[in-house]
Amino acid sequence: MPLPKKALHALANPSPSIEAYEGSVRSGKTILTIIDWIRFIRNGPAGTLAMCGRTERTVINNIIIPMQEMLGRKRVQIKYGTGTAVILGREVHLYGANNEQARTKIQGLTLAGALVDEAGTLPESFMQMLYSRLSVIGAKLWLTANPEGPQHWLKTKWLDRARLWIDKHGLEHWSDDPNAMDLHRYTFVLEDNPALPPDYVERIKRAYTGMWRKRYIDAEWVVAEGAVYSSWDPTEHVVAHDELPRLQRVFSVGLDHGTTNPTAALALALGEDDLLYVVDELRIEDGPSDGVMSGRLRTWLRRLPMAPEWLVIDPAAASFKVKVAEDGITNVMNGENDVLYGIRTVSSLLEAGQLRISDRCHALITEIPGYAWSPKATEKGLDAPIKANDHSCDALRYAIATTETLWRPYLDAPT
Ligand SMILES: Nc1ncnc2c1ncn2[C@@H]1O[C@H](COP(=O)(O)OP(=O)(O)OP(=O)(O)O)[C@@H](O)[C@H]1O
Ligand SMILES: [Mg+2]
Repeated sequence: MPLPKKALHALANPSPSIEAYEGSVRSGKTILTIIDWIRFIRNGPAGTLAMCGRTERTVINNIIIPMQEMLGRKRVQIKYGTGTAVILGREVHLYGANNEQARTKIQGLTLAGALVDEAGTLPESFMQMLYSRLSVIGAKLWLTANPEGPQHWLKTKWLDRARLWIDKHGLEHWSDDPNAMDLHRYTFVLEDNPALPPDYVERIKRAYTGMWRKRYIDAEWVVAEGAVYSSWDPTEHVVAHDELPRLQRVFSVGLDHGTTNPTAALALALGEDDLLYVVDELRIEDGPSDGVMSGRLRTWLRRLPMAPEWLVIDPAAASFKVKVAEDGITNVMNGENDVLYGIRTVSSLLEAGQLRISDRCHALITEIPGYAWSPKATEKGLDAPIKANDHSCDALRYAIATTETLWRPYLDAPT
C-alpha cells in the first residue's frame, strides 16, 4: 500500500506514548492507525490490549473488519458475544464507550496498548481512565479524531499539548512547554490519502458546506454557530405539493412525541427521480391523551399516498409506543437519537440537493431557518442545537437517520 509522506513521517518518528491522527474525513487516519497497531501487536510489550470506539459494533465495523480484509480471517478472528477479538494470536478487548459509565469497564485494568477510533465522540472521562491504565513499560495509545469545536476537551487537553505537531501543510511544530504531553499529533487532509480518485475527492468536498466543510474537509476545529442547516434555501428545497413526483416508496414516518410540547410527524418518501421527499406533515399542537393522539395519527397515515414501511418514534415516548402497538401498528422502530449524526446526514442531503420538502409541511418549513446551534453548548466545547421549536426538525432527523440503510442505495452520494 502506498503511504503518503505524512504517514511515513508518523511511522518513522521515535515513538511517543500517544499518537493522535486527526483531520479530514476519508483522509486515511484509521488505516494508518491500523498499520501501526498491527506492528504493535507483533512487536509491542506483552500485556492486555484494548480497541475502543463509540460502540463495540463501530469498533468491529470500522477497524476489525478492515483488519480482516488486510490480514485474513484466520489472523483476525472476531469472538462475537465475548467482547474480544484474536489478532495475530493475541487477545484484544473491544470496548464501546458512549456514556459516562463506560469508564468503569476499564477501571482497574493494566494495559499495554490501546487504539481509539473517533476519540472526540467518546466521553472525556473514558479517555482519561484509558490513559491512566496504560502502565506497562512501553505502553502506547493511538487515537483518531475528526475536528470538533475549538473548546472541545480533546483539542484543549490533549492535541494542543502535543510535544510534536505535524500540521495539515506538513510543517513540524515542536513544543517547548515543559508540561507538553508525550503525544505526537498529525493533522490529515484528503490530499494525504493517495487512494482517493480525484472525482471522489471533488464529490466529497461538495457534500459539505459551512462549518462541516471547515471541519471535515479543511481539518479546522471551528465553532458551530448560527443556523444548523446553513444551506437551507426554500426556493431550492421546498416543492409545491401538487408538483411532487410519483413516489416509489414511503420509507418512514418520523415522529417526535410531546406531552406538554407539540407532536410532529413527517413522511419520508422516494420520488421516481430517485430523490428524497418529505411529502406530508402531521402537527398536534395541544397535548391530547395517547389514545386521542394515536387516533389522529392513524387517520393521517391513511391519507398518505402509500403506507409507510416504518413508523419511527422518538425513543423517549415509551407509553405512546405501547398505545400505538395496542392500536395495531406493528412496524414501529425507535428513532436513531444521535443528534449530531442525524443533523450531519440531513445537512449533507440538503447540501447535495437530494432532499426536498412539500409545502404542506408548514411547521417544518417554519422551524428550519430558526434551528440554531446553542452558544451555551459551544462555550462548553460541545455541539448541540438550541432545544426550542425543534419538534418537526427532530421528526425529520428520526425519519431520515433511522432508515438510512433503506434510502442510501438509491442516492449517488458519498457515505
Ligand atoms: N495509504 C493508503 N493506501 C491505500 N488506501 C488507503 C490509504 N489510506 C487510506 N486508504 C483508503 O482510503 C479510505 C479512507 O481511509 P480511512 O478510513 O483510514 O479514513 P479516515 O481518515 O479514518 O476517515 P474518517 O474520518 O471518515 O473515519 C479507506 O477506504 C482506506 O482503505
Ligand atoms: Mg476513520
